[in-house]
Amino acid sequence: MISRRGLMLGSAAVGLVSLAPSAIGQVPASIDTLPPSAPVKRFPLIAREIDWKLLGPGQPATKRFCAYDGEPFKVFRFDRGTRLAVDFENQLPDPTTVHWHGIRVPYLSDGVAPLTQEVIQPGGKFSYNVPLPDSGFYFFHPHCDETGQIGRGLFALLVVDDPAEKKAGYDAECFIVVKDWRLGDDGQWIAMSTDEGASTAGTFGTVRATNGSTVAPRVEAPAYGDVRVRTIVADATRVIDLGCDTEDAFLVATDGQALLPPAHLDKLPDGIWRMGPAMRADVQVRMPEPGKEVKIYDYRSSEPYLLTTLVAVDKGKRKTPFKPKPLPASTAPMPDVSKAKKMEYLLQVSAGPTIVSPALPADDPLSKALVDSLCVGDKTHWAISRDSWSTKDALRLVPPLEQLTAGSSYIVTCTNVTKHVHPMHLHGHVFRVLSSTKKQSMPQYLADTVVVEPNESVQFAFKAASGNWVFHCHILEHMDTGLMGWFRVT
Ligand code: C2O
Ligand code: CU
Repeated sequence: MISRRGLMLGSAAVGLVSLAPSAIGQVPASIDTLPPSAPVKRFPLIAREIDWKLLGPGQPATKRFCAYDGEPFKVFRFDRGTRLAVDFENQLPDPTTVHWHGIRVPYLSDGVAPLTQEVIQPGGKFSYNVPLPDSGFYFFHPHCDETGQIGRGLFALLVVDDPAEKKAGYDAECFIVVKDWRLGDDGQWIAMSTDEGASTAGTFGTVRATNGSTVAPRVEAPAYGDVRVRTIVADATRVIDLGCDTEDAFLVATDGQALLPPAHLDKLPDGIWRMGPAMRADVQVRMPEPGKEVKIYDYRSSEPYLLTTLVAVDKGKRKTPFKPKPLPASTAPMPDVSKAKKMEYLLQVSAGPTIVSPALPADDPLSKALVDSLCVGDKTHWAISRDSWSTKDALRLVPPLEQLTAGSSYIVTCTNVTKHVHPMHLHGHVFRVLSSTKKQSMPQYLADTVVVEPNESVQFAFKAASGNWVFHCHILEHMDTGLMGWFRVT
């Protein structure tokens, strides 16, 4: 007979087998998305805590800010077709993992405990194999205590360039990182999550910020030039309506994938692009004459909230007719919609914890091992089609939403029957958003995260890749309180 202690010393999966034998089943093959001959870039990556003057000079430094390599908002940039060999080290005092959001990685590098790896304990190391098969704008972040760790700043931007795109030539590029902070008057962290927030729209920051600054950045760009404005919502909670005060702006990429043809921002429903946590958008802005400005706003706030001001400076460019530059088409595998199998899911409030296996006493060492390996939240507020991801009051691995076949196409219809918005993210895939019952005039677009409004049904299609892939709301308190499921693709 195997002892509890034996289970503790074994892998995280051992503990899971003991709780949910039916959920383990077949292990998918971890398929690489680049050939073995791809150039390799090997580098160390360290997660650690630093002190950072979030509120600006003269203000107290915030302790225990979390950052990769100790650098807030670090931007990593590589050419498409590169393979990253990342030697990750956890110097945080808590367990963590790294998830490469939006990148088609082999699933064993997807960073989701317990489906793809065990958590990396403080002082622990893990090597990630991160091929970059598609160009675009991505980010990476922990996939354990997301609310706490991303809330304290732990994420980095990842830009994958396509050499063909470089030739298309923008005159300037600018990043807008939407990330608020939960700070008390003394500049120190306050609780990242509240029960009230977790069960409603999420807990908002107390300090709004863009690129870490409470004052909207001012960025100079060549007059009459084209600026590629790359916006990401890295906040745990906030949903924005991205827009600007010029007509000369086109949405050219959604979640890093080219939008073909580019869409006139003004002509989209309400003249905005709605973005939930984790979503990225690339907008091409044509700059006006020298001295004039373009302002980029979040129109979702009661008053439009200024995100960034672009200031036109004379760089000797002449005025030319404005034409949006289409980006090279996405290289991600596309679904065959005509042959796709259909699946339907409801996003719901949970009807209380669904405990299939008897809960373990909290002081049982196995409880702690499971809590660590599952990275579970405190309570259950949400469910996908009546099933909720594990929480501390329901320790188990939920069965997969569906068993899929690698290479086959699927259409998911997601219907939100709650009162709150849910940006739903599927790991390891680029999907095509086909339709929505609320935004009929929207063109189809590619994404890895899609906003589903209350009373809205959204349809998206994808070609399944081998692996265990989670599907969850990216309002982090929602995912921590049940709004997460997974697909097994073999
Ligand atoms: Cu950006 Cu499952 O995460
Ligand atoms: Cu949600």
